[in-house]
Amino acid sequence: QEAPSARVGLVDWFFGASGIGGKRASFTVAVLGAAGGIGQTLSAFIKANPKVAELRLYDVAPVVRGVAADVSHVNTRAKVSGYVGDDELEACLRGCDLVIIPAGVPRKPGMSRDDLFGVNAGIVRTLCEGVAKTCPNAIVNIISNPVNSTVPIAAEVFKNHGCYDARKLLGVTHLDVMRAKTFVAAAKGFDDPTLVDVPVIGGHAGTTILPLLSQTTPRCSFTPEEVSALTSRIQNGGTEVVEAKGGAGSATLSMAAAAAEFADACLRGLSGESGIWACAYVESKATRAPFFATKVLLGRNGVERVAGTGTLSSYEKRALESMLPELEASIKKGINFLHS
Ligand code: NAI
Repeated sequence: QEAPSARVGLVDWFFGASGIGGKRASFTVAVLGAAGGIGQTLSAFIKANPKVAELRLYDVAPVVRGVAADVSHVNTRAKVSGYVGDDELEACLRGCDLVIIPAGVPRKPGMSRDDLFGVNAGIVRTLCEGVAKTCPNAIVNIISNPVNSTVPIAAEVFKNHGCYDARKLLGVTHLDVMRAKTFVAAAKGFDDPTLVDVPVIGGHAGTTILPLLSQTTPRCSFTPEEVSALTSRIQNGGTEVVEAKGGAGSATLSMAAAAAEFADACLRGLSGESGIWACAYVESKATRAPFFATKVLLGRNGVERVAGTGTLSSYEKRALESMLPELEASIKKGINFLHS
């Protein structure tokens, strides 16, 4: 007797009913730095996304071909291929709709994200030059740290090549949002963190990460002690992982999940879905810092609208004022890198 066909697929698990027999796979997505801790897991997640027709995996490490072979065995629609080194960057990027960049070195205990600037600035510049030459209309998601500076670096590269479109360049701060949801749900006894919403604004380093607990939904109140403890835990979530891994890297698994969820939001916007809001670090007029993370509306052209900060508590107002000098300095450092 024939067994009934059971719907126990990976796509179903990650993306629900909309993934099965839903919109046809149509997008080409590249992961640059795909052999790394974030890149490998992220690639497996993206392979499961039913909106992806082609997945291109690039790294300077030759093992990326093996990563591509491995990921290609997952039984979803996306065709997977691997690319190694400068000579193959162009082939990897040709025709891409979305380029996700987690290439670069991660922190070790005791390091700040800014300590990575020396190595990662050059990597992001080179990869963005490839994007500018090969797929200047692609949406670009920057994960490589320090995000506060690498996004301005990418913007300068695109400006130099005459193809800068602020709507298409997004720094990925979604892990801060995931942490905020997780930690707030635990503190307030919500049993499903996916239903919690906490905007996280500013940047992606230390005190530039500002969770707006006053705007949490479902509505709930926090004592001043809770605000201070939760804010600090969300700001230091990355360091918590760096220390727990004891020198063997920074957040990779949660980051891969965050990047996959964020990429899916970008693809949903590109496919014309409406009402797709997510926090991201983008060119912004929300404050005096030229790049700033707030909620953004994602659509067919990338960022269709950048939200303001909304009404802030007095704690949040103070925190915002005191982080801006650091954020502005990191942005300037990124811009100057291209002109030095
Ligand atoms: P990893 O060291 O495990 O992997 C990095 C990968 O980049 C390696 O496979 C390496 O070969 C590759 N790579 C180096 N130079 C390259 C180049 N020129 N072109 C292409 N690939 C290149 O590091 P991991 O843990 O995956 O972290 C990657 C980056 O993501 C780090 O900068 C880290 O700080 C950042 N990160 C960002 C987060 C965020 O919230 N935005 C959270 C966690 C990490």
